[in-house]
Amino acid sequence: MAELVARALTILNALSPTAKLALGVVTVLLVFQLLSSTGNKHKGKHLPPLIPYTVPFIGSMLDFGLRPINFMLESRKKYGDVFSFVFWGGRMTVLLGPEGNNFFFNMKLADANAEEAYKSLTVPVFGPDVVYDVENGILMEQKKFVKEALTTAAFQAYVGYIQEEVQGYLDEKWTKTSAREDIGHGIAELTIRTAARCLLGKNIRNKLDDTVADAYADLDRGFTPLNMLFTWLPLPYFINRDRAHVRLRQIFLDALQERKTNVDELDHDMMGSLMKCTYRDGTKLSESAVACIMIALLLAGQHTSSTTTSWLMLYLADDAKLQEDLLKEQVEALLGDPSAPTSNLPPLEFDHLKKLPLLEACIKEILRIRPPLIAAMRKVTRDVVFNGYTIPAGDTIIGSPCISQLDETLYPEPEKFDPYRFYKKADPGASAAGDNSEWTFADSYDTKGAKSSYLPFGAGRHRCIGEGFAYLQIKMIMSTIIRNFKFELPVDPVTKKRIFPDRDFTSLVVMPTKPTDIVYTRRT
Ligand code: HEM
Repeated sequence: MAELVARALTILNALSPTAKLALGVVTVLLVFQLLSSTGNKHKGKHLPPLIPYTVPFIGSMLDFGLRPINFMLESRKKYGDVFSFVFWGGRMTVLLGPEGNNFFFNMKLADANAEEAYKSLTVPVFGPDVVYDVENGILMEQKKFVKEALTTAAFQAYVGYIQEEVQGYLDEKWTKTSAREDIGHGIAELTIRTAARCLLGKNIRNKLDDTVADAYADLDRGFTPLNMLFTWLPLPYFINRDRAHVRLRQIFLDALQERKTNVDELDHDMMGSLMKCTYRDGTKLSESAVACIMIALLLAGQHTSSTTTSWLMLYLADDAKLQEDLLKEQVEALLGDPSAPTSNLPPLEFDHLKKLPLLEACIKEILRIRPPLIAAMRKVTRDVVFNGYTIPAGDTIIGSPCISQLDETLYPEPEKFDPYRFYKKADPGASAAGDNSEWTFADSYDTKGAKSSYLPFGAGRHRCIGEGFAYLQIKMIMSTIIRNFKFELPVDPVTKKRIFPDRDFTSLVVMPTKPTDIVYTRRT
């Protein structure tokens, strides 16, 4: 026996480092396979169908990670609205369709929670005592504080702030009569400038170009799916992320001190409002928690809104007629006459935004076809039954309304960007879109309850609180650009085709792949 071991060691020593590594990986996987097949802890339970896989531990991770939408669409066809797959040594169970959405978003707290699913990703970025670092009841109170700050009075003020920021950006950067621009980059900058001005206040907005931008960028780089897989690794960018969190929090804490002595009551920013909040039990929201909530809002709102706006710009760049319809809608809403000259357009006000239903439908449609978040997650803590299957405690469940948003039985030609599907005419006899007849929203797409095919902002207790702000921000950015510029997709010199980006699934928010260029032309 000793001789056998000695011979095995000699052979091992002779292997190249790569071969040793490969052998190590195979051994770990075999041990994992052995352990998971011997201890069948779910014996006797009627589990959802498990997608077959060849490599243990890894399972369907690459398929889901690299092509999640097609993976879920194909699996839904084969297995129905509920199925499981192996992912990084754990089981993921997907719940689909309006029933699956309803079940997922309305699960009892005792059965499943978001904290366990998101903690490793969010706590190092947002910081302690907020969002998923606190029990659900506290999160609900924190969300209420934020919602209470997003009043109509605040929104009325934000319209002016955003307009000023967007016009300022366009005057500074889009100076030529016609030029090619990276819209992904430009919209990201516009989104952070406008969000900072509205949510964080004038003071922090003014620091955006130096200190805040650097800290934000480092923090943002740490907000990646890698956090969920390698929480324990001392990777350099995790270290940068942690330092960036401390820096940003300190900037916000300093701003808080300044605000205490210099409060401008008319500046309806989030910080001013949060500083006054008290929990139900009488405890005041701490200054550190105010700073961390602001970090969380900045991160939660930045890529979601910026990516949605970028996709919308790209689809509009591919449709010159729609751009003209949007401009006409704006001219008519503000001047009462669609043929009035654009140069007469006054600044937009909050009440005007309600009169731009075509723009609103464009945003709804872009959120249907290119929602920035394609999977919400929860950790199951107690066995639950859905559609006759037991989803066992320990599973991570995925809710993905983006799959029902692409259901061809509900949305004919689901991959086509068609904002008019969100309208019906008040006058059924009227014909083409964009004429003078009145438009109202189609009532077939219920977005209130969770039993819906269309839920880009989620539902239930974790539903987004930023929807109103996101709509306001996107509408303001789009309508300011549309009244100043026309834009189109660049043409590939070789293929002579318009360059339209694919989806990049490697980041948390599904962005367009680079290049994200458009060619703008100033309206005269
Ligand atoms: C939650 C989407 C913009 C703050 C969510 C959820 C979705 C979503 C799908 C639910 C996640 C889940 O159930 O696990 C979007 C989209 C946006 C957007 C599509 C823009 C187009 C914003 C903005 C803010 C924000 C601008 C902040 C101002 C939040 C917060 C939550 C949330 C605080 C609650 C998290 C929880 O309760 O667990 N969002 N969001 N979002 N969002 Fe948004």
